[in-house]
Amino acid sequence: MEDLMQKIVSLAKRRGFIFPGSEIYGGLANSFDYGPLGVELKNNIKQEWWKRFVHQRTDVVGIDAALLMNPKVWSASGHIKNFSDPLVECKKCHTRFRVEGEISSKSLPKEIYDHIETSHPPKEGIPTVLGFESLKQDFTEKKAFNLMLKTYLGPAEGDANVVYFRPETAQAMFVDFKNVLDTSHRKLPFGIAQIGKAFRNEITPGNFIFRMREFEQMEIEYFIEEKDWEKYFDHWLEQMKQWLKDLGVSDTKLHYVDIPDGERAHYSKRTVDIEYDYPFGQKELYGLAYRGDFDLKNHMEASGQDLRYQNLETKEKFLPHVIEPTWGVDRSVLVALLEAYAEETVEQKERTTGEEIEDTTRVVMKFPAWLAPVKVAVLPLSKKENLMEIAKKIHAELSRQFVVEYDETQSIGKRYRRQDEIGTPIALTVDFQTVQDNTVTLRDRDTMKQTRIAIDKLADVIQEKLHD
Ligand code: GAP
Repeated sequence: MEDLMQKIVSLAKRRGFIFPGSEIYGGLANSFDYGPLGVELKNNIKQEWWKRFVHQRTDVVGIDAALLMNPKVWSASGHIKNFSDPLVECKKCHTRFRVEGEISSKSLPKEIYDHIETSHPPKEGIPTVLGFESLKQDFTEKKAFNLMLKTYLGPAEGDANVVYFRPETAQAMFVDFKNVLDTSHRKLPFGIAQIGKAFRNEITPGNFIFRMREFEQMEIEYFIEEKDWEKYFDHWLEQMKQWLKDLGVSDTKLHYVDIPDGERAHYSKRTVDIEYDYPFGQKELYGLAYRGDFDLKNHMEASGQDLRYQNLETKEKFLPHVIEPTWGVDRSVLVALLEAYAEETVEQKERTTGEEIEDTTRVVMKFPAWLAPVKVAVLPLSKKENLMEIAKKIHAELSRQFVVEYDETQSIGKRYRRQDEIGTPIALTVDFQTVQDNTVTLRDRDTMKQTRIAIDKLADVIQEKLHD
């Protein structure tokens, strides 16, 4: 299974989905850049999410707030006090480790053992007692480490100028609640949605794009009357399940984990973590939380502004409660890549007018069509002027509607395999018959079946196939 992760990381780099960030300078720990295909894939996820949860609903509106907010936001939200990981620090080299739960002689994190063995190996002949005693001797006491990234606004670097990069997009929806309410005249229940970057100074980033310090979230704060919270909690859980199905995620890999009292985030009255069986273990993919009126109440107190909602019929004023479904964009990309990856033995040799494809295995990314970064590949069979000219015309025409890639390099077989590897659902080959009868070969990524289609029917046929 770990192997699958390596394959995904290397395919992502090789084909331009995701590169290590700042690579020519040796990288920057756990930062990644989305390449030409990665940005298309990621945008497809964000656009589908926005269409589904903002445009297609009458009860959700969107915002796009600033990443840097007044620091008072983070004291009111509890992030300055509570948004921290417990950690210990190695006294010799100051490396920090996250330690969850109570530390006892039996539950020392493996990373700590590994760290002592590799970075501070015992002197020859003197056996080390690795364990609780070593932790006490070599590491500092457990202390809370705040995960928010700090910076300074303006030329002076004093306490007065400290601001934090937002650790979640959610707070802007609470801070802007009144502005949205006043300008969009919504009635409860209604939601505010946002897609954007969030930053956390994670102690243990890793597993490719699973845990990063800079990542993207898609979040909705759905404002309700308190009495309705269970109904809308269930509603959003269903929406998240449907989303996962449409992303192509197998049900058997998903776990819906109710987080018990005492382990939930400081604001939450009920949380369901949606966890996924990654190659490196079962871990969080998305979350759904009932935040009560925690945030609005605190912002009302701290800002002195009346953030209550007024029921226009009864004239009653009260603070709405909130259901929060949250999706990580990068984890969505990671799961989409993991789920789509397939290696297949090709039983029959593929043949495209005159040329046979020798390769008997293929790597194919079986993305659902809506997710595929490129929808259609247009391939002239050879570098003959007349074939290339027709192919370029087809590209120009179809690219008004779809993301289309034109490729004239190497053999047709190699080009098919390249398109399989990036998950392009449809390949069109312009060949010698095209010149005679204005038809092209349409090859289906999954079945590898080839059919001949008239050029003037292409847009309709493709549209239909992509929405199958
Ligand atoms: N507003 C609620 C909130 O931020 P969270 O569970 O801390 O809740 C929401 O984060 C989602 O953001 C997670 O379910 C995950 O998909 C994503 N996420 C959180 N930390 C991340 C990180 N360091 N790298 C990548 N994605 C992350």
